[in-house]
Amino acid sequence: MELQRLDKIIAAQLNISRKEVKSGIRNGKAEINGTVILNADYQINPEKDSIVYDGQAVIYKEFVYIVMNKPAGVLSASSDKSRETVIDLVPAALKRKGLFPVGRLDKDTTGLLIITDDGDFAHRVLTPKNEIYKTYIAGLDGEVTEQTVKDFLNGIVLADGTQCRKAYLKPLEGNRAEIKICEGKYHQIKRMFGAAGLGVNSLERRAIGGYELPDFLAPGECTEVTKYQLNPLFIAK
Ligand code: URA
Repeated sequence: MELQRLDKIIAAQLNISRKEVKSGIRNGKAEINGTVILNADYQINPEKDSIVYDGQAVIYKEFVYIVMNKPAGVLSASSDKSRETVIDLVPAALKRKGLFPVGRLDKDTTGLLIITDDGDFAHRVLTPKNEIYKTYIAGLDGEVTEQTVKDFLNGIVLADGTQCRKAYLKPLEGNRAEIKICEGKYHQIKRMFGAAGLGVNSLERRAIGGYELPDFLAPGECTEVTKYQLNPLFIAK
C-alpha cells in the first residue's frame, strides 16, 4: 500500500476535520508505532503502522459497509439541502466522508439498503449485467394474474416504451407479491405494476442477491458489516 499523510488518514478514519487533526498532531496527540509524531505530513502505511490518536487506537479501514433498514419518509441520497437523507441516519461512530447509498429506494420504500464509500463494490452490485436480483415485497391495489407473471418474466414494456429485463413475480396472500428485478430504473417496480394496471401501496426491499435484510434491524437502524459478510450478495437467490 502507498504511504499516506498522517493527518489525512486520521481525519478520514475518525471523521474529523483535517484542520482539527493538524492542530492535534502539533499538540502531540498522534503516536505512530509508539512514537509521538508532530508532523502532519509524516508518511505512514495505514495497513501496517499502529496509529494512536488522542489516546485511542485508530483501526484503519479502506472502506466501510453499512447495512440499513431504511424507514419510509427518508431520501436515498448522500445529502439534501432540507430533507432528511439515509446518511443523516448513520450513527456518528460509523460516519465518514464519501458515504453513499448503493442504489436508490424511493422515499416511501422501506427495507434493505447498503451504504458504503466503495464505488467499485457499488458498481458490481448495481450493474444489470451482473444480474444481481433485488427482492421486494409489494402491497398492491389488486390481484396479480397469471398473465402479469408471464409479462414480467418476458420483460414488460413500461408506459413510455422502456423495455424491462426479465423479472420474477410471485403472488402472495392479501394482494401482495414478491418481485425480483436486477435493474434499477426510476420508480421501476411502480411503473412495472402500473403497466400491468396495478397500483403499489407499499414496497419493501427484503434482499439483494442472497443477502437478506437482517431481522434484528428495526426501521431506521443500521449496522456495520465487513465486505466478506456481504459476499452472499453475489450469490443468486
Ligand atoms: N422500484 C420502485 O418503484 N421503487 C423503489 O424504491 C425501488 C424499486
